[in-house]
Amino acid sequence: MIIRPEQPTDSAAIEALLVICFGPDRFKKTAYRFREGVAPHPDLSYVMEDETTGTVIGTIRYWPVMLPDGTQSLLLGPIAIDPSRQSEGMGIDLMEYSLEKAKALGARSILLVGDAPYYNRFGFLRENTLGITLPGWVDLNRFLGLEIEPGILKKQHGMLQKMVVSKEE
Ligand SMILES: CC(C)(COP(=O)(O)OP(=O)(O)OC[C@H]1O[C@@H](n2cnc3c(N)ncnc32)[C@H](O)[C@@H]1OP(=O)(O)O)[C@@H](O)C(=O)NCCC(=O)NCCS
Repeated sequence: MIIRPEQPTDSAAIEALLVICFGPDRFKKTAYRFREGVAPHPDLSYVMEDETTGTVIGTIRYWPVMLPDGTQSLLLGPIAIDPSRQSEGMGIDLMEYSLEKAKALGARSILLVGDAPYYNRFGFLRENTLGITLPGWVDLNRFLGLEIEPGILKKQHGMLQKMVVSKEE
């Protein structure tokens, strides 16, 4: 199994994985409001590939977002592992690998909406997001944050903002 950067040619395989894992209605989720019209972070989109078959069996992406005080952050997700290959440790491998990359790239905080029992082990905590609101319904017990720079999330008060993409760049 290898982890490698996502390539444009992976998009069909990734879409198939996301449909299997999350269904076709996933775009209605609040997290997708931050993804519409915004590209995933180009240096933090990875796939897990079975190098013997060349099959993509896992995907992880991160999206740029802006904290209420204007500080950049990242929204992690979706992460998905092929159902036939889940619980083999590949999700943890993808998480740990990409989190290290994010830190190396200077990320100061990361947010996600997901299962706390899974993400707590990586340091994602509900207590870090208590001051941040979202532009739609989510089960707030699933709105979690990782502080890479201590205190950066806990001091936030207000709405998480979509990253504005400049059309001139
Ligand atoms: C969630 C997911 C990415 C985890 O990847 P994985 O490769 O199956 O999991 P791993 O083998 O790396 O980790 C296994 C551990 O995580 C736990 N775990 C897996 N999914 C979990 C979940 N949703 N909630 C809590 N714990 C979970 C397992 O019990 C196991 O714990 P253990 O190490 O104490 O035995 C994968 O199962 C998946 O794609 N699920 C469907 C899509 C999804 O739910 N994505 C995440 C959105 S919240």
